[in-house]
Amino acid sequence: MTIRWYPGHMSKALEQISELVRKIDLIIEVLDARLPYSSSNHLLEQVRRNKPCIKVLNKNDLADPAVTRAWVQHFQKSAGVRALPLVAKNIPEVKSLVKLCKQLVPQRGNPGYPIRTMVVGIPNVGKSTLINTLAGRSIAKVGDRPAVTMRPQQIPLNNGILIFDTPGLLWPAMDDQGGAYRLATSGAIGANALDYTNVGVFAAAYMMRRYPDLLKERYKLAELPETPYEVVEAVGRCLGCIMSGGVVDVHRAAETFLRELRAGKAGRISFEEPGTPEDVEAELLRFAGIEVGEQHQQAPIMPE
Ligand code: G4P
Repeated sequence: MTIRWYPGHMSKALEQISELVRKIDLIIEVLDARLPYSSSNHLLEQVRRNKPCIKVLNKNDLADPAVTRAWVQHFQKSAGVRALPLVAKNIPEVKSLVKLCKQLVPQRGNPGYPIRTMVVGIPNVGKSTLINTLAGRSIAKVGDRPAVTMRPQQIPLNNGILIFDTPGLLWPAMDDQGGAYRLATSGAIGANALDYTNVGVFAAAYMMRRYPDLLKERYKLAELPETPYEVVEAVGRCLGCIMSGGVVDVHRAAETFLRELRAGKAGRISFEEPGTPEDVEAELLRFAGIEVGEQHQQAPIMPE
């Protein structure tokens, strides 16, 4: 299976973002700390106009701390970019984001001169959760589907920050198969767009290569089976995903396995690291039975 994703409304969204960037002082880009590269949209850089950018590595509670530290170092090599791992519901951590905004735009943030910022990111990375914590109240979600008209929404915070909560939405770049599978593993691509078994097999392959001990511990495996498919079967046996006749229900096993990984049940896991060599990535895809080098030109697939 190839996961395909056609960013149909991308150029419109980028146009709107580009317009808005003129009026703001700072961009807050929300990424998933477990896959900061694949959960970003690389076109944002083109419309950034050298405005300072904070890359919020959200869902840090689920990510591998050592890998997150490596990502922070990686991002901060770029001029004007700061990276901040956090958990969007964690008030003290979100306060440190406000502090960082003030450091980056010291000339504003006073009464009548708020720091004008925008919160951007792909669906499901936690933009709304972050905005709600920043605002200290529940703010209605701006349309998060391509069909929904996006209205500019200004959210004045009582800490000297003004958020322009639109257009906000970006689609992930999806420029490689590995990235698409990582997004699917993390849950960023809706269930209607993927085949659980294939994604579960990919996740098993990744866990076998990168976090074998977590896999063994969680699913009580003395030794790992040879293939990722067999790992999904073993997980299914452990979790009781059995059909009549004692056969493992592989689809249900893969679905439950993914749900567990997404919820951090097997531990804190990052799905990608900065600077992974191409041959390591290609080997992982082969191991997972995914054809490498397929093109993304087919029908659009949008998140749920
Ligand atoms: P979006 O606006 O970017 O689309 O994302 P949203 O805030 O709706 O968050 C998407 C999901 O991610 C929500 O879960 C939310 O609770 C969860 N989330 C956001 N930030 C964090 C975080 O730092 N850590 C963890 N572990 N989860 C986070 P949901 O199950 O879709 O909704 P709900 O049941 O929590 O309401």
